[in-house]
Amino acid sequence: MATVQGSLLSSVVKEKTSTPKNKVTIVGVGQVGMACAVSVLLKELPDVLALVDILEDKLQGEKMDLEHGSLFLKTPTIVANKDYSVTADSKLVVVTGGVRQQEGESRLNLVQRNVNVFKFIVPQVVKYSPDATILVVSNPVDIMTYVTWKLSGLPQNKVIGSGTNLDSARFRYLMAQKLGINTSSVHGYVLGEHGDTSVPIWSGANVGGVALQSLNPDIGTDKDSENWKDVHKEVVSSAYDVIRLKGYTNWAIGMSVADLAESILKNLSRVHPVSTMVKGFYGIENEVFLSLPCVLNAQGLVQVVNQKLTDDEKAQLQKSAATLWQIQQDLKDL
Ligand code: LAC
Repeated sequence: MATVQGSLLSSVVKEKTSTPKNKVTIVGVGQVGMACAVSVLLKELPDVLALVDILEDKLQGEKMDLEHGSLFLKTPTIVANKDYSVTADSKLVVVTGGVRQQEGESRLNLVQRNVNVFKFIVPQVVKYSPDATILVVSNPVDIMTYVTWKLSGLPQNKVIGSGTNLDSARFRYLMAQKLGINTSSVHGYVLGEHGDTSVPIWSGANVGGVALQSLNPDIGTDKDSENWKDVHKEVVSSAYDVIRLKGYTNWAIGMSVADLAESILKNLSRVHPVSTMVKGFYGIENEVFLSLPCVLNAQGLVQVVNQKLTDDEKAQLQKSAATLWQIQQDLKDL
């Protein structure tokens, strides 16, 4: 008897090939992982999305829920499994696995627990996608990026931390609110550690090419009567405030990760503040990862922008580097 399945379609090709071109893997399907997943899907970036986690029911539930939105997406294939073979041939692997901050807890406090988780995750990722770029999101992100670089054996350009991309977005948003214009028209960078010791680069903050510092030479200092310094204070307290109010942060980090993913998957060579190995920059002598403005494209992180920093800004970066290096020395079994 003729069936719909058997008679509806006549094949033109012998075999349907299905090597993914822009496969993205998200490791960890918690709040951050799923915000990253939805953000990359809505930007129509992956042709295949792979999800991995150790929680099998949650994993299958998230996969099904996303698949039911298939009509509204341009990603025809979503796969999910606790076995990393589903991640094979990824172009980009976003790692969000591990524990997250509780109320009032610092990012640095999470470190040894997440190192233990990464010792399982990273070798599996590299085994199945040796050519992928790995984008580390788990906190403390600068140290976890170093840990990933060490555990993976990958070259420096292939291991990137989401770093201060989000802090810079918060900085631009808060400055834009103060000025009453759109976030995208206020430019500026927060560099260094993603977290409590991040460094705002006031000399570069500008609107339409007009440096704010040229209008207010005291901007960002204690002498500044307009208190722009509070904007950076709010950047630092942002995650703590959101965690106090809703328990975790996820949407902004998800969207900022999708923006980085776009530069990598579409080979855009755009500049983003992300975490990279900074030994040799600004007098830093140890192997630590901190955010500097970097060029991202299909090869990963290909260039670092040489930015002229003040002595005070350099000293702040060196101090963050020293803190991170100290913590890295105490990590067990790396
Ligand atoms: C935040 C987390 C991602 O800053 O560290 O929201």
